Order: sequence, then structure tokens, then C-alpha cells
Amino acid sequence: MSKVLQCSQLSKSYQQGQITTKVLDKLELTVNKGELLAIVGSSGCGKSTFLHLAGALDLPSSGEVFINDVNILTLSDKQRAAFRNQHIGFIYQFHHLMMEFTALENVAMPLLIRGDKPKQAISMATQVLSQVGLSHRINHRPSELSGGERQRTAIARALVTKPALILADEPTGNLDSDTAEQIYQLIRNLNQKVQTSFVIVTHDIALAMRMDRQLKLDHGKLAPFIKPESMVEHESVSS
Ligand SMILES: Nc1ncnc2c1ncn2[C@@H]1O[C@H](COP(=O)(O)OP(=O)(O)O)[C@@H](O)[C@H]1O
Ligand SMILES: [Mg+2]
Repeated sequence: MSKVLQCSQLSKSYQQGQITTKVLDKLELTVNKGELLAIVGSSGCGKSTFLHLAGALDLPSSGEVFINDVNILTLSDKQRAAFRNQHIGFIYQFHHLMMEFTALENVAMPLLIRGDKPKQAISMATQVLSQVGLSHRINHRPSELSGGERQRTAIARALVTKPALILADEPTGNLDSDTAEQIYQLIRNLNQKVQTSFVIVTHDIALAMRMDRQLKLDHGKLAPFIKPESMVEHESVSS
């Protein structure tokens, strides 16, 4: 099975003056093509730090990250940005859409950045917005969209380049439960249809349990996640 992401002996510390904060400690992870992986962990345990390294947005203090078998440490900053644009989609907790642009322009942007012709970029962006159920909102700016619509636009933007890997940082963190459910369904459909791998960090254990595999980030390392007893009981009562 082909690997889309491999992290080996991955460590990250932040240095602030005399103080060193060790966040990731020789973490190991392999994500296969088409896998839907959830990473859970308490606030401040390093989930965002890990995603930024896995997405080549930041560099580790030591260790290695391979994305589609390319060691990202061997790339220059410019090459890394281009590589990211080509191979990775990133969904941020707070959508990070550009407020002055429409949904369509936001989604077309990664294609324009990589040099696609505007007509082609617009056509592809329109298609992906329709896939996430937003055909009727393409000319709306983020301020004219609901929270769920903004997050779906952000998902469309992550998808538009057809990346092998999408990294999502608490993608349902700010949404009500119905909207969160729609986002989950959307991720699941896309995963099945186009075999995109997803790594989703979340503190929502119910959401995490619906992915293919769950890991817990704790003390800088990833370990198998054991479902809490209280959730097992809750399920048997409700079913
Ligand atoms: N740029 C930074 N400089 C210093 N410390 C940081 C920086 N970014 C994050 N941290 C610290 O690293 C730890 C992990 O942060 P983060 O990855 O954002 O956690 P999570 O996403 O799990 O809530 C926290 O203690 C945070 O304060
Ligand atoms: Mg975070």
C-alpha cells in the first residue's frame, strides 16, 4: 500500500529566550493512501504543531517528514511552498478565507498560484464548489456565508488541487452539531470517491471514532487511542 505521509523521529521544541517548550518528541507516523485518520488530544498537546509539520508549513527541530516519498527537509523554502501547493490541502480551524474575495475566487486561488489559466481555474473551482453543495453561493464573500458554508468553502479550497493528503485542524470545532455532521459526511464522501487521505485533529471524540483509525497525541508522541468506557456505555444505551 502506498504511503502519503511518513514522519520519523519527529521532534519540535519552541524556544522563547531561556525557556524551551518541547512539544513533539520523536513521534512516528505512517499514513496510507486513502486513509481517514483522526488524532485526538487535549488542548495544548501539540496537535496544530504536528499538523503544521506534516503539512510542510513549518520545519521540525529534528526528525524527518516524507510526503509522497519526498523528504521535505531537502527542499528550499520556495520548493517547499510549491510542493505544498501541489500535494497538500490544509483546512484551518478558522477557515482562513480571504475576506475580500468571493467563495469562487478563494477556491480558484491555489490553482492560479500554481499557474493554471484563469478560465480553467474558475471552471475547476466552480466544479468543486458544487461538489461541496455551494453552487448557489459561489459569488458570496465569506462575510455573506454561514459558518458551515465558510468551512465547506475552505474544504473546497483544500480539495481543488486534488491533493493526495488533506490535513484538517479541528474542522468542526466552531460548528453546531448538524453542520458538523454535514462536514463529516462531506469528508467521508470525498475520501471514498477520490481516495484522498485525511488527517484530522480534533478534540471531538465522537467525530474521531467515525474515522478509519484513531491515535492520541500525548507527551509528544502518538499512541493508539482507547475509546473511553463512558462512550461505550452511552452507545449501548442509545442503540
Ligand atoms: N510559536 C510558538 N512559540 C512558542 N510556543 C508555542 C508556539 N506554538 C505553540 N506553542 C506551544 O506549544 C504547545 C502546543 O501548541 P499547539 O500545537 O497549538 O496545541 P494544540 O493544537 O494541541 O492545542 C502549547 O503549549 C503552545 O503554547
Ligand atoms: Mg490547535
